[in-house]
Amino acid sequence: MKTFYIETFGCQMNAHDSEKVIGTLISQGYHKVETPEEAELVFYNTCSIRDKAEQKVFHRLQQFKKEHGKGKTFAVLGCVAQQEGERIFEKAPHVSLVCGSASYNRLPEMLVQLETGNRRVTGLSLDTQDTFETPVTRRDNPHRAYITIIEGCDKSCAYCVVPFTRGPERSRTSASVISESLELARAGYSEIQLLGQNVNSYRDPSPAGWDFATLLDNVGRVPGIRRVRFTTSHPRDFRKSIVDAIEGNTALCNHVHLPVQSGSTRVLAAMDRLYTREEYLERIHWMKASRRPIAITTDIIVGFPGETEQDLEATLGLLDEVQYDSLFGFKYSRRPNTSALLLEDQIAEEEKTRRLAMVQEHQRNIQIRRNATYVGSVEECMVEGFNRATQQWIGRTSQHKTLNFLRPGSDADLTGQYLEVRVTRAGPNSLVGEAVN
Ligand code: 5AD
Ligand code: SF4
Repeated sequence: MKTFYIETFGCQMNAHDSEKVIGTLISQGYHKVETPEEAELVFYNTCSIRDKAEQKVFHRLQQFKKEHGKGKTFAVLGCVAQQEGERIFEKAPHVSLVCGSASYNRLPEMLVQLETGNRRVTGLSLDTQDTFETPVTRRDNPHRAYITIIEGCDKSCAYCVVPFTRGPERSRTSASVISESLELARAGYSEIQLLGQNVNSYRDPSPAGWDFATLLDNVGRVPGIRRVRFTTSHPRDFRKSIVDAIEGNTALCNHVHLPVQSGSTRVLAAMDRLYTREEYLERIHWMKASRRPIAITTDIIVGFPGETEQDLEATLGLLDEVQYDSLFGFKYSRRPNTSALLLEDQIAEEEKTRRLAMVQEHQRNIQIRRNATYVGSVEECMVEGFNRATQQWIGRTSQHKTLNFLRPGSDADLTGQYLEVRVTRAGPNSLVGEAVN
């Protein structure tokens, strides 16, 4: 058993975990292949944030239940693994390894157990102080690199599985984050994205004792690093010092993702979010008052138990007030272990669909107006790739907007470069422009 395939679901934390898992497997002598058919060992790195995400892994496993899966070993990693634990062996008896993210350090040892024929290998303890660090990370993108700075989550939002699937908060030392950043810069990366379920509660465990704003500023001062982003932020722990850091350091991007979830203080309380609408708006005003044009994006959940028409109106009103640059909207999904599971007044599925459509339509109009204000301006883009169908380069602005552009008279590969692009047109979800010579 020496070839493996891995498919990843869920958030950037999961995507980056997979990069580290792949590095670990390769350093153990395994060889990565591109299809599950070719592989002896098949990994699914799973997500359980909503029921739909969780079902995906069971669909995949179903496909391999009979002869297709003969001779293969199946492993379930990530949030579904942690949440369902040994129940996965009952639901899918052809699975041999179930391992949550807090146990990835033990992967080499678990692989040995698999090799020796153990068909029920588990890594399910959440009782750890460790973070998953490996020198052999296999990064997907040669220009933008993820770095985990904090794992786990100590909040207890009423709807959320993450505290149960990723365990308690553990921060990495600032020295280790900085040395990884230096190494990445040396390897040619120009953009770093700092990751954590709640980066704002980062606390350096070493005597240096840096908070998140200090870490952010210092990563932005690593020579060769031109852009630093971070995700995700919890409003309760979002400090003014973060906005000050952005203001004082041009490498820190003009973008903050600050999930609000609802515009109704009543619903926020029911969600255990630990802030009111007014406290959230105070943070927004710090950013709006900044000299830097900070783009603000958010997550919204509609149909949380007990959400009324009035609460929804409050959310739509908040969208008007903040003028978000973009928004991810979700229908509330009941999750195991969470406190909201037991709440009454669950909202019907069709009603959630209607509310989500209202939020999205509302936001679409905001984005059309906002994006139109960029026409005529020049934005620095990091080139992410080329779209053959449209013959346009795909650029990303500091504000994290997609800017597709033409650059006539050059067939050199521009991927990874930074170019000035003049915006000529704007749609709800992207901008169009031309490179400035
Ligand atoms: N149902 C729907 N959306 C959820 N999210 C988290 N938990 C749930 C749930 N149970 C959303 C939140 C979060 C984003 C990553 O996913 O908006 O910010
Ligand atoms: Fe999914 Fe949340 Fe786990 Fe990320 S942390 S994989 S979003 S459940």
